[in-house]
Amino acid sequence: MRKRSVTDYPLAGKRVLVRVDFNVPLEGGRVADDTRIRAALPTIEYLLGQRCAVVLASHLGRPKGKVVEELRMAPVAARLAELLGRPVKTARDCVGPEVEAAARALAPGEVLLLENLRFHAGETANDPAFAAQLAALADVYVNDAFGAAHRAHASTEGVAHLLPAVAGLLLTRELEMLGKLLTDPQRPFVVVLGGAKVSDKIGVIERMLDTADAVLVGGAMCFAFFKADGREVGTSLVDEEGLDAAAAIAAKAQREDRVFELPVDIVVAPAAEAGAPSTVVAADAMPVDQMGLDIGPATAAAFAARIAGARTVFWNGPMGLFEIEDFAAGTRTVGEAVAAGDAVSVVGGGDTVRAVRRFGLEGRITHVSTGGGAALEFLEGKALPGVVVLMDRE
Ligand code: 3PG
Repeated sequence: MRKRSVTDYPLAGKRVLVRVDFNVPLEGGRVADDTRIRAALPTIEYLLGQRCAVVLASHLGRPKGKVVEELRMAPVAARLAELLGRPVKTARDCVGPEVEAAARALAPGEVLLLENLRFHAGETANDPAFAAQLAALADVYVNDAFGAAHRAHASTEGVAHLLPAVAGLLLTRELEMLGKLLTDPQRPFVVVLGGAKVSDKIGVIERMLDTADAVLVGGAMCFAFFKADGREVGTSLVDEEGLDAAAAIAAKAQREDRVFELPVDIVVAPAAEAGAPSTVVAADAMPVDQMGLDIGPATAAAFAARIAGARTVFWNGPMGLFEIEDFAAGTRTVGEAVAAGDAVSVVGGGDTVRAVRRFGLEGRITHVSTGGGAALEFLEGKALPGVVVLMDRE
């Protein structure tokens, strides 16, 4: 069922509470990556164009119900003001009488960014009283926080029961782009997964084995598959919790004759450090005293060839420790292949998006998703609580 969005609900002149996902990395008190802030601009600008008073709410990090000074929203407000080219008011809290007064005093065309929602335990607990305090700030609720839509929290789920609740433009586009992967991908459809932990991705791998034409696995999570298969993995990072799942996935792929590719060669080094002497070894001959830090060149070439033949690609998770140049080649080759073709390409997950930006590929990807866990849960076929609760389109 399609959800109503800001463009098909009368919002002109209203006070609107917009849940955004401004959970962005900070470095030295500044926003280190503003992708998620930029992604929310179309909705904010649309609402300002409608003469709405815009109250923005987000979490930042995991402060667990307490005020953590380093996780205040001030750096985010500063970056947002630069991007919007207009002032952004801030509040010392996200609920309570002072915040209510500030929200009431907001004129049409003004923007207020609330303090970190997760400074209150009621946020993640989806406490109805906390949701009611949020609802008191506005006439209408807009959810544009796709990255947090898999969380049933007060600001993503609870509050939507208390106000007319519609989707923002980013949320709408995310659902459309990711939805097509599930229902109507142009084929061949190739899925590339990496990152450290197979346990985070079991559901999506299983689902993609059923729906995609090929599933390619790189990154440290391949070591769980190797170990489950009884192979030597040296001192590599291994997701021990995921061993049984890895074995089950490999067995399913074989039983159902699915295209499921693991690396055939690996870049190993004694330590995860720049300048450490690295070598390429066969994936079934990893030395006991070395760790795998990237997929090898033969694997990268094989994955790139699969991707080049695809008409739809979904990529989540780097192929190696790309932050260190010595171990970046596999992720770069895969990223360039994803960006090169004219296939529909969808990329998701914080690390993967950082890799895409680092290699300058962003402009050549069809859709860079702002969701990590949310995108994976959606592709797994799970209903996202922050979406389910929004008004259906008539
Ligand atoms: C994310 O970064 O994936 C979202 O902002 C959700 O954050 P969380 O995993 O802390 O709920």
